[in-house]
Amino acid sequence: MRQAGRYLPEYNATRAKAGSFLALAKSPAYATEVALQPLERYPLDAAILFSDILTVPDAMGLGLYFAEGEGPRFERPLRDEAAIAKLAVPDPGAELRYVLDAVHETRRALQGRVPLIGFSGSPYTLACYMIEGSGSDDWRRVKEMARARPDLLHRILEVNASAVTAYLNAQIEAGAQVVMLFDTWGGSLDTAGYAEFSLAYMRQVISGLSPVPSIVFTKGGGAWLEDIAAIGCSAVGLDWTVDPRDARRRIGDKVALQGNLNPSALLESDASVREQARRVLDAFGAAPGHIFNLGHGITPKSRPDAVAALVDEVRA
Ligand code: CP3
Repeated sequence: MRQAGRYLPEYNATRAKAGSFLALAKSPAYATEVALQPLERYPLDAAILFSDILTVPDAMGLGLYFAEGEGPRFERPLRDEAAIAKLAVPDPGAELRYVLDAVHETRRALQGRVPLIGFSGSPYTLACYMIEGSGSDDWRRVKEMARARPDLLHRILEVNASAVTAYLNAQIEAGAQVVMLFDTWGGSLDTAGYAEFSLAYMRQVISGLSPVPSIVFTKGGGAWLEDIAAIGCSAVGLDWTVDPRDARRRIGDKVALQGNLNPSALLESDASVREQARRVLDAFGAAPGHIFNLGHGITPKSRPDAVAALVDEVRA
């Protein structure tokens, strides 16, 4: 959940040296440097590859860029049938070589200290950005395509599912020991839409993976936890709206659970961070199979000392 990021002054310094976020992510040496920064500060149990989910559509030729203060954008979003027909699975060993090199270099730099998590966006979440061309409050173009031309959306999702499977397997081959699927926008669908456009394609990805543990996180997916737990993943990520007791009751011990501190806790005092972390730990209980994490990405205004208090409380 953006373990490395703008809340850390050393991240901002490396980013400035690299020139931009994309230059940082595309340089295996810089990506390795920032992936290790949080581990130098905090006694964490895992490292996560430094990259972004939007590298995959970028490798498909959509032209990723970040307009200052505006979030990610694509130069060539999927705006017509011809563009969708032309869409093809990128070769991870060619267009995404820099990510695999970063995995390799990060593994080497970790020297076995902690395991390395690789990741990808879910087919549906990637499709959202590819169709819309940027982030969105309502994903209007995507919803309209789902209703008026579901065949086109399914074509994009098929390509994305193959691309994500190949990409994650390449990360595993390069040294990733766990992989995580970020389905940030699956929760914007209705129940039938989620099953058809998001979950079905994540199932396809999970069933095609080399055998390492996998984590599936749908933000806003609390209504569908049983269905997510049944697609073959090893762990289900929970956002902070889910009551962990309820999740455990519904899922049983079939899979591990990951989560789910509200990231806004990290804007508060150390005492408050500790109290909220303790509440999360108590709600998950003493049974095995809990991976402590935030319920979504860390925000740039989080205090580094609040993260230190959090990690200390969890370890204690
Ligand atoms: O967790 C980690 O430390 C690994 C790195 C990571 C990043 N992005 C780095 C990043 C991971 C796992 C992601 C995933 C990602 N990227 C998701 C899924 C998870 C989620 O947050 O829901 C999504 C939707 C994206 C797309 C994306 N990338 C957005 C919307 C933004 C802008 C965010 C913002 O607050 O402006 C990014 C940029 C990005 N990716 C940053 C980082 C550290 C900030 C860029 C910067 O340094 O300016």
